[in-house]
Amino acid sequence: MYSLLSFCLILCLSLSASAAVIDRRIAVPSGYVAPPYYPTPHGGWTADWSVSYHKASLLVSQMTLAEKTNVTAGSGIFMGRCVGNTGSALRLGIPQLCLQDGPLGIRNADHNTAFPPGITVGATFDKDLMRARGVALGEEFRGKGINVHLGPSVGPLGRKPRGGRNWEGFGADPVLQAFGGSLTIEGVQSVGVIATVKHLIANEQEMYSRMKNIFQPEISSNVDDRTLHELYLWPFAESVRSGVGALMISYNAVNGSACSQNSYLMNNLLKDELGFQGFVMSDWLAQISGVASALAGLDMSMPGDINEVPLIGSSYWMYELSRSVLNGSVPVDRLNDMATRILASWYQFGQDRNYPTPNFDTNTQDASGPLYPGALFSPSGVVNQFVDVRATHAEIARAVARDAITLLKNTIATLPLAKNTTLKVFGTDAEKNPDGINSCSDQGCNKGTLGMGWGSGSARYPYLDSPIDGLKARGAKYQFFNTDSFPSNSNPNPGDVALVFISADSGENYITVDGNPGDRTNAGLNAWHNGDKLVQDVAAKYSNVIVVVHTVGPILMESWIDLPSVNAVLNAHLPGQEAGEALMQVLFGEVSPSGHLPYTIPKSEADYPDTVSLVGFEVGQPQDTFTEGLYIDYRHFNQQNIKPRFAFGHGLSYTTFSFSNASITAVTPLTSLPPTRPIKGPTPSYNTSIPPASEAYWPDNFSRIWRYLYSWLDKNDADVAAKIGNSSTSAKYPYPDGCSTDQKPGPVAGGAQGGNPALFDVAYNLSITVTNAGNISGKAVSQLYVQFPVGISFDTPIIQLRDFAKTITLAPGQSQTLQMRVTRKDLSVWDVVQQNWIIPDVGGDYGIWIGEASDSLSVRCGTSPLGCVM
Ligand SMILES: *[C@@H]1O[C@H](CO)[C@@H](O)[C@H](O)[C@H]1NC(C)=O
Ligand SMILES: *[C@@H]1O[C@H](CO)[C@@H](O)[C@H](O)[C@H]1NC(C)=O
Ligand SMILES: *[C@@H]1O[C@H](CO)[C@@H](O)[C@H](O)[C@H]1NC(C)=O
Ligand SMILES: *[C@@H]1O[C@H](CO)[C@@H](O)[C@H](O)[C@H]1NC(C)=O
Ligand SMILES: *[C@@H]1O[C@H](CO)[C@@H](O)[C@H](O)[C@H]1NC(C)=O
Ligand SMILES: *[C@@H]1O[C@H](CO)[C@@H](O)[C@H](O)[C@H]1NC(C)=O
Ligand SMILES: *[C@@H]1O[C@H](CO)[C@@H](O)[C@H](O)[C@H]1NC(C)=O
Ligand SMILES: *[C@@H]1O[C@H](CO)[C@@H](O)[C@H](O)[C@H]1NC(C)=O
Ligand SMILES: *[C@@H]1O[C@H](CO)[C@@H](O)[C@H](O)[C@H]1NC(C)=O
Ligand SMILES: *[C@@H]1O[C@H](CO)[C@@H](O)[C@H](O)[C@H]1NC(C)=O
Repeated sequence: MYSLLSFCLILCLSLSASAAVIDRRIAVPSGYVAPPYYPTPHGGWTADWSVSYHKASLLVSQMTLAEKTNVTAGSGIFMGRCVGNTGSALRLGIPQLCLQDGPLGIRNADHNTAFPPGITVGATFDKDLMRARGVALGEEFRGKGINVHLGPSVGPLGRKPRGGRNWEGFGADPVLQAFGGSLTIEGVQSVGVIATVKHLIANEQEMYSRMKNIFQPEISSNVDDRTLHELYLWPFAESVRSGVGALMISYNAVNGSACSQNSYLMNNLLKDELGFQGFVMSDWLAQISGVASALAGLDMSMPGDINEVPLIGSSYWMYELSRSVLNGSVPVDRLNDMATRILASWYQFGQDRNYPTPNFDTNTQDASGPLYPGALFSPSGVVNQFVDVRATHAEIARAVARDAITLLKNTIATLPLAKNTTLKVFGTDAEKNPDGINSCSDQGCNKGTLGMGWGSGSARYPYLDSPIDGLKARGAKYQFFNTDSFPSNSNPNPGDVALVFISADSGENYITVDGNPGDRTNAGLNAWHNGDKLVQDVAAKYSNVIVVVHTVGPILMESWIDLPSVNAVLNAHLPGQEAGEALMQVLFGEVSPSGHLPYTIPKSEADYPDTVSLVGFEVGQPQDTFTEGLYIDYRHFNQQNIKPRFAFGHGLSYTTFSFSNASITAVTPLTSLPPTRPIKGPTPSYNTSIPPASEAYWPDNFSRIWRYLYSWLDKNDADVAAKIGNSSTSAKYPYPDGCSTDQKPGPVAGGAQGGNPALFDVAYNLSITVTNAGNISGKAVSQLYVQFPVGISFDTPIIQLRDFAKTITLAPGQSQTLQMRVTRKDLSVWDVVQQNWIIPDVGGDYGIWIGEASDSLSVRCGTSPLGCVM
């Protein structure tokens, strides 16, 4: 996504660069192909959407050509209050839809909550909090009159530890992402807001992968079929299964074909195999063609403009889509499906009944301003009504921030702190940015307490409760040195505890911070602002040091983690607005830490596979080939037998837990292949004749806003197009290979939202009793990993996370029995020949490991013989 500030820069680059000069494509490595898959499957064939599709079809059958094309695209960048504003069809009661960032809260708004981002949510390993935050987000978006929430992000998956936007998602594992994403979606959509799962797919680095121009040549992520299914597509499948109403396609290409016009990805994988019933939108300016993207399955162009030079009133769709339908190049059938998918989502979440209209403006904080900031001349009016949508959501935000805090190290019971401890606090990250908490546009700086990364996935803070605020509020005894260089005037007194705050940031590519163009290019995996040196210097002077880290992802800790005075380390992730009190509750022991790492912390960056490094600039199209396959993050460390500093899932507590009484129950008997998929239900049918050209004529007396995108054509243009469409002799559109208009029955792996419903049959139930064996109250996390039977013909990672559960706060001695499950899909591999999920050894002994971290699994349950060993 874009901001107004970065817009001019990109505009100038685009204008000064003659795209024709250099257009050499570095070949996609042999073997990677982007097969054609046409046509786009009609939406509406699953029972759970049939009522909404029926309602939508009644509307669409009354819509004119220009009305249909108007709802499939935005009215232009900066042409309304939201980051995306579709055209309306007011004659039929269809309003403009407001689409708004972002995954952690309402971007560039007021009186909103700045929740902790996805990575922090993932670290809680708490399904209830995941859903509760989703509900709260939904309530805020609805309260501001937003129809479509542009979140959650489950891609990038976190393959590249330096990748700029990993923090917007839930962690470097497909199952953790899947629970984070689908529970967020269920929460958001429970209050009638359409959620948008993004970004499909394999958008694992920021630099060179964005809206295509010669400086950003749209990286090709080359991914094999099995890896795509078992890692990157997995969280999207679960999101679709949860009924997500919208999906955003990513900027990059897959196998050389831009995602926004990749028919295999949208038509086949998403809409046929996964049975997605909502609508697909482009990422902002990711669309690079008109007819081709429509045929490949794109349903909505955002923000509506062409990507090379936005803001001149040009679009690939809107009036061009009207033209493409009249001239016969885009089948009427495809346009009907696009409009139906969008309106079915609108009905599915009840937005046809009393849905609020926008009462805020993402372009300004002022009460009044231009209604169309992107227009040359715009009427002005009231744009911000300052509606407070926060309710009691700060409590949910604080609970997430607190329950994510991950205790990495705690020797000599340094933590929790006694109330009367004298603290010496170091590091600018402990206190708010002195320039103002919202002084950097889209949080594009790392100054003061780091509560979130930067870019379109950020929000303005209503306030930021910093760690220093937290210390002040509880009258702690502390002295604060607001510097990242060790101060000469700091001398320890006996009994002093030093608290050192360090941070690492990243974000979206349209902003560069300290030489980091989104990705952590310059900073690497190191703490920013010489944080390592600060810790070392403090540790040299003080004998009892606690390090608090605010970070977007893994950082290297080797230069200080084993220093004798570094006694405790807390990873507080990105806490959002509630940084201070959340941390205080853990530091002073009112709450025992219960977060766990949503990624591995390595000892050295060299411990990762070479292929997950950032890809550099290439003239043409940089190639990013995922040859490590399934072996990312802990899957790789385990396979290579590399001991990380802290394993995926690691997280200590002030108390200790014992796991006992494990049991496994067979629920659904397994077969090598899942039962045959259900056939598709009926979908709406329409008149597919090309409509009369008059349906696209400009109304005579319409007063246009200059540069606004409309769906109408001049009469002459419409007539010329219609003539082409009605002619058997004029040149036909050069359709891509494999283009067809015959609807298919769908792949064997499909059948419902998320895929063949039998994939989600529970194969085994597991239960485990967790007892607080220590003397402090706390919550425990139980993680479940699957190991495939030995001797199967598929190479599989040693263990893979498949489920998790978290206890309530357990008092000393108290127990809770947790339920977990594994599904048929959890025990399957994607067979690229059969194009299906198969159980590689039906009678084989799966190892189902349960414990507190990926390297601390004390319980093994097996499926043959059925039983558990502690
Ligand atoms: C990419 O190419 C690989 C190797 O041919 C193939 O298995 C996979 O299905 C392709 N994926 C897409 C999305 O085109
Ligand atoms: C398209 O949407 C715009 C913005 O709401 C509206 O002004 C215009 O009348 C709509 N066009 C049609 C054909 O309804
Ligand atoms: C129809 O119009 C579209 C949009 O301008 C254009 O891309 C396409 O080539 C046209 N088709 C024909 C057959 O002229
Ligand atoms: C802090 O309080 C505890 C009792 O809660 C007491 O034993 C200890 O001496 C106090 N320490 C200091 C430095 O005042
Ligand atoms: C053992 O687990 C079962 C569920 O499998 C549960 O009903 C029972 O209460 C547990 N026993 C103890 C002692 O916690
Ligand atoms: C499996 O667990 C679920 C959820 O706890 C429960 O509803 C179901 O009855 C269990 N099935 C069997 C066969 O134990
Ligand atoms: C289908 O649409 C065409 C073009 O608008 C029209 O001429 C025809 O009468 C319609 N057919 C039916 C059955 O309504
Ligand atoms: C435009 O003309 C139509 C009929 O020709 C009329 O119904 C409509 O009210 C007019 N709109 C405006 C804005 O004058
Ligand atoms: C389409 O072409 C036929 C003859 O080829 C003509 O009779 C008919 O009027 C044309 N229709 C339109 C809408 O131009
Ligand atoms: C609490 O348990 C820890 C070990 O788990 C022990 O060192 C400590 O003495 C215990 N404290 C109390 C008050 O029992």
